[in-house]
Amino acid sequence: MDPLFITTAIDYANAQPHLGHAYEKVLTDTLARFARRQGRSVRFLSGLDEHGQKVQQSAGKAQKSPQLFVDEISILFLGLWKELKVQPDDFVRTTEGRHQKLVQEVLTLLEAKGDIVRGTFRGFYSVRAEQFLTEKERRPDGGWPEIYGEVVELTEENYFFKLSKHQDWLKELYQKNPHLVFPEFRAKEILGALEKPLPDLCISRPKTRLAWGIPLPFDESQVTYVWFDALLNYVTGAGGGKGILKDWVPAVHVIGKDIMVPAHAIYWPCMLRALGLPIFEKLLVHGFWTRKSEKLSKSTGNVVDPKALAEKYGADSFRYYVLREMALGHDADFDEASLAARRKGELAHELGNLLQRAGSMVGRYCEGKIPASPNPDAVTLAFRATVMVALRTWDELMKGNQIHLALGELWKAVQAGNQMIEARAPWKLAKDPSQAEALRATLADAMGALELVLEEVACIIPVTAKAGLEQIGHSGVVSARSKDWPQWPREVAGRVLGKIEPLFPLLDEDRPKGNS
Ligand code: MSP
Repeated sequence: MDPLFITTAIDYANAQPHLGHAYEKVLTDTLARFARRQGRSVRFLSGLDEHGQKVQQSAGKAQKSPQLFVDEISILFLGLWKELKVQPDDFVRTTEGRHQKLVQEVLTLLEAKGDIVRGTFRGFYSVRAEQFLTEKERRPDGGWPEIYGEVVELTEENYFFKLSKHQDWLKELYQKNPHLVFPEFRAKEILGALEKPLPDLCISRPKTRLAWGIPLPFDESQVTYVWFDALLNYVTGAGGGKGILKDWVPAVHVIGKDIMVPAHAIYWPCMLRALGLPIFEKLLVHGFWTRKSEKLSKSTGNVVDPKALAEKYGADSFRYYVLREMALGHDADFDEASLAARRKGELAHELGNLLQRAGSMVGRYCEGKIPASPNPDAVTLAFRATVMVALRTWDELMKGNQIHLALGELWKAVQAGNQMIEARAPWKLAKDPSQAEALRATLADAMGALELVLEEVACIIPVTAKAGLEQIGHSGVVSARSKDWPQWPREVAGRVLGKIEPLFPLLDEDRPKGNS
């Protein structure tokens, strides 16, 4: 099986984590867990983008040194990943020594090769915002928005990375390999951006203007442009242990649509090519979360706090909701009521109930041991076939990054389990000794289906899946699938169940009102 190196974007350490950050990390964590389940060896990398203007400004506002400021912010991010069970193998903070060293080595190498040259940068500069402005920021009447205050034309001596010479190669690359990007329609966007000539990329800033960055090894008066620094986190974290630049393995980069062009789709492959390294395996580009169809933005107060949601509904319910709700690659609207409804319906009522009902009946009618069912009848065979189809479809959809649909298919197995129990009514079968075999088959198969489903859905809801598996007498450890997967579980018979408890207990708001 192919090994997988999968990365997230590294978030700006200038404010606390928001829903977009949390979605992306949960998504990548799920893809990493799913790949492990398929038996692939996986390296999952995440991190924080800690240099640059935004961070320097936020630290200034908070009246803290930039280093102290990012150290504090890093605690918030790392705390949230722990809570959401996002478990990367490595986490690169760009202020770490190992990363600074790598960036300086890369700069030295590219400068020696003539890929980085000195030049003059000319542009419009906002004194108030302390940043260069682009044509995008200009008002239709040609002036600049109020927030920028006085705007002056400035020239600066800087260093440039020769991007332009890669243009033809890059265009051909995306024309021939649109599958380098998921969803593929995004490749058109990249090719559109490559229609215009690529200017060389200004990769340094004078320290007098921006001090918070990695100094250029060949000119101490300048620091590295934050994107040039940040993209290289993928090389720092590739970590095969062979040494800088030898560690690189083509990665699957999970990113949001706003940082595809130009950073990941244009700058990044050109940087890798200049370094003589193979480019990435894929850009997996997700869409944006909105709320009431509006952009999530602190300035308008339209924010969603993932930590508060995880505390209220549980980390797994949050993970399930974001992955079930958003079609990977497209935008989605966040709605707390819909999170609550999915938790109550699909998780508690469908999955949780199947375990609770079947589990307590194994307790009641089979002394807490999963019964054997050696002679499956037609009902049992039809049920098993339904579960197998659900699993195979789930698998194919997951491999095609259609997580939201994959979950819908997997739930067909859960629904079939509940329907089978309703139809067979074990409480009636238990009263009739001639129906003993049908009773055993019903309960054994409900347990078998639960085991198959929980082992798969562990990549989405790891904590609950483990708890559920333990309740049905499984070790709770989900390892790689066996070669003959999906197979009806062979060794469930005779297993002693653990204590059966609700997987998704009722929340206060779900309880009937008026009884208190
Ligand atoms: N620091 C850069 C990335 C450097 S990667 C070498 C950055 N940081 S960010 O904090 O602004 O964004 C981090 C990730 O969160 C990006 O992939 C971005 O697309 C994603 N999201 C930010 N807002 C989002 C939503 N509202 N919805 C979904 N994802 C969003 O860009």
